Amino acid sequence: MKRAPEFTHDVCIIGTGRVGLPLGLSLVDAGLDALGVDVDPAIRDAINAGRMPFAEPGYDALVNARRFVVHGDPAIAADCAAVVITVGTPLRNHIESDLRQIDAVLDGLAPHLRAGHLVCLRSTVAPRTTRYVARRLQRLTGLTVGEDLSLAFCPERIAEGRARIELRTLPQIIGADDETSGDAAEALFGRLAPETLRTDTVSAELVKLFNNIARYVEFAVANQFALVADTFGANIHEVRRLANHRYPRNGIAAPGLTAGTCLRKDFGMINEWNPHPDLMLAAWKMNEYVPAFLVQHLEQRMALEGRRVAVLGYSFKRDTDDVRDSLVPKLVRYIERCVPAEVRISDHNLPDPLPAAEGEPARRNHDFAAAVRGADAVFVAIDHSIYPTLVRKLAALAPDAWVVDLWNVGRIEQTFYRAHALGPANAR
Ligand SMILES: NC(=O)c1ccc[n+]([C@@H]2O[C@H](COP(=O)([O-])OP(=O)(O)OC[C@H]3O[C@@H](n4cnc5c(N)ncnc54)[C@H](O)[C@@H]3O)[C@@H](O)[C@H]2O)c1
Repeated sequence: MKRAPEFTHDVCIIGTGRVGLPLGLSLVDAGLDALGVDVDPAIRDAINAGRMPFAEPGYDALVNARRFVVHGDPAIAADCAAVVITVGTPLRNHIESDLRQIDAVLDGLAPHLRAGHLVCLRSTVAPRTTRYVARRLQRLTGLTVGEDLSLAFCPERIAEGRARIELRTLPQIIGADDETSGDAAEALFGRLAPETLRTDTVSAELVKLFNNIARYVEFAVANQFALVADTFGANIHEVRRLANHRYPRNGIAAPGLTAGTCLRKDFGMINEWNPHPDLMLAAWKMNEYVPAFLVQHLEQRMALEGRRVAVLGYSFKRDTDDVRDSLVPKLVRYIERCVPAEVRISDHNLPDPLPAAEGEPARRNHDFAAAVRGADAVFVAIDHSIYPTLVRKLAALAPDAWVVDLWNVGRIEQTFYRAHALGPANAR
């Protein structure tokens, strides 16, 4: 990528959160002159002081070098050849993607755009959103996309926790509806990745959604199988192990709490344009039902009323400090509806008190031993990588407790079992 002389920086990343910050730092690492813009002063202060505002392995030294500076005013984008938009695109309470952050970026950016600029949308969006952005930018700036201004959709496909590796290894999808835009975006993302794949904007939007939704549906099937197995008194882990063993034609995924800010919402970005019940809606229902399944099926074995319950893990997935759209708060609420004496939560990746969604009570975060000692029931809500070792201690700390272990972290190959089964004699 060769920067035109009228620009003093290569790239401006707008929205330096979990996607934008790793991207900006990786671009700096690849030799580009990149900077950021974010409306959140806490994010700006942390990054500009050389600290990661959240956990993402492999970036501490890069952020500490302070070569990636984050600004509050989007006017700085006027000096940058490319602008990459990485703000949030949640779902509203209805099945409708929420474009307010993107709209606010376009409004703030428009006065600073000029001929020669490349704008890349990287947030996950519903099909045809890039074409909406093109029309809105043309209206706001008077510039024509494909002639004065380049516009592309280049989706982010990293998994949280793997950004440092995946930004340099995953093929980059370049979605553009004209050649100039495609060339400009390819020159930028070609600096990061070994391979770039060109297509139009709608196809690129669908690539990202299909990548996520395919996983979401795959996990929904795994969860449905877990529910069916337990309903028939069978053991999902054994059935899955036998089904997958040297069988060449499927690989049934492991069941577990399936959520998170990406997987949970992306089905809605297609469903908002479709009135019919479909597989994606069914997958959403199945994955959302898992907390109720675990509580109801435990209650078939023991009543939780008046009992002490421990919940291990609170984030949306393994080894992250991200709690956005985690299903664990929902699991805790269902446990609380059984009127237990106490619910103690433990997640070593999170602070005490635990981060709370708006309107939620602040909940205490306990260390592992304090959470589980003397518990009558222990839910392994997330499969943090230290849990296979830690849960073995349940055999001593709460031997009579029922353990709810959909992830099979105890390697007992049962979803519901008594903690004494984790004793040394049963260690595998
Ligand atoms: N988190 C992931 O692993 C992941 C992976 C792939 C794709 N995505 C997609 O990437 C997008 C961003 O996700 P995220 O997890 O980084 O979100 P995030 O909330 O962590 O980051 C968004 C950032 O944008 C900032 N912001 C909001 N409005 C702004 C504005 N007008 N100007 C400047 N900054 C503004 C926020 O302060 C925040 O720091 C979403 O569309 C998401 O679906 C996320």
